[in-house]
Amino acid sequence: MPNLTRRQFSAAVVAACGLASVKLQAMQTAARQTGLRDVFKGDFLIGTALGGGGLAQGTSPLLELVAREYNAITPTNMMKWGPIEPREGEWQWDMPDRFVAWGEAHGMRVVGHNLVWHSQVPSWLFVDADRQPIGKDALIARLESHIRTLVGRYKGRIHIWDVVNEAIEDDDKGWRQSPWTRIIGPEFMERAFRVAHETDPKATLLYNDYNEHNPGKRAFLVGVLKDYRKRKVPIHGVGFQGHVGLDYPDLAEYEKSIEAIAGLGLPIHVTELDIDVLPRATRSTSADVSATAASSESLDPWKAGLPPEIDDRLTARYRQFFELFLKHRKHVARVTTWGTFDGESWKNNFPVRGRTNYPLLFDRAMQPKAAYAGIVALKTHK
Ligand code: GLA
Repeated sequence: MPNLTRRQFSAAVVAACGLASVKLQAMQTAARQTGLRDVFKGDFLIGTALGGGGLAQGTSPLLELVAREYNAITPTNMMKWGPIEPREGEWQWDMPDRFVAWGEAHGMRVVGHNLVWHSQVPSWLFVDADRQPIGKDALIARLESHIRTLVGRYKGRIHIWDVVNEAIEDDDKGWRQSPWTRIIGPEFMERAFRVAHETDPKATLLYNDYNEHNPGKRAFLVGVLKDYRKRKVPIHGVGFQGHVGLDYPDLAEYEKSIEAIAGLGLPIHVTELDIDVLPRATRSTSADVSATAASSESLDPWKAGLPPEIDDRLTARYRQFFELFLKHRKHVARVTTWGTFDGESWKNNFPVRGRTNYPLLFDRAMQPKAAYAGIVALKTHK
């Protein structure tokens, strides 16, 4: 050991400590940077849906969490027809531009949601200047121009589009009766795909819907997809929204639908996963639980916190779904939750307003829940 002066010795200690603290910092940063995106790397993309959430300021605790955990983002509402083009030709680009730029800056796969839906549409869309019902050709022109403008603006930057949302009914009812089918006919859907593809040939184009586990809906969808493949309609995958509950849907039926779509050679994107833990209610049960104490008790039982046994069921259910996604990892391209933390979930207000629900992987304080640990453990404790 060389003879060191006191000064040399202190300098060496400081340097060694400095090195140790740099190492420690690097380890802490690495730990902070490990998120679901790392856990499921090689399996599927893992995404979330973002509303405003700090995008206007460019930073927020939520955005930090999203950047750490996820590698795909979907906008909740800002790209839907109503919010983005509230008056014909008047586009609200500010938030969508920020959303796309933030996604790019954080290495996200950016999802566009959605181009054509019957809901959240502006009031001008299906009527002419005199508020009379619009004709077929005029509506086709609007549809095509909307898609060209929106997809064109983000060409090469939005990687995946939900092109058409919810065009099929449950059971054996076939096409949803909406202004799109009434005015244009079911061909509105393939037109949307063709124009989106023409505008950005590299974008992945999805059909997105809920309840694909429903046998009648599955059969109808498979028929449509087979026909599209035969006629070369450019469709590249199917979105399973995944608004599910603790005891629905039947996982065996859900798996049959994954297999049916995979069997056509199309990937599945789970686009809007959340697990409702509250007693089932329909919109007609009660519009607002604050209205009566009785309905508040029975429909909104866990205002003060989720009982451990229900939290366990939530974790078990998340694990079952992720086991299924991992089993079919070759065909499941992405799993996106509809929101990041419980406090921001639409499920607090649907189908009944003002309840306290717990459908996501992070709690109201944005801390990971047992369900988070449960799905991570599927990969780390095999
Ligand atoms: C549907 C839509 C989403 C969103 C959810 C509920 O699933 O596709 O955009 O509106 O409902 O929030």
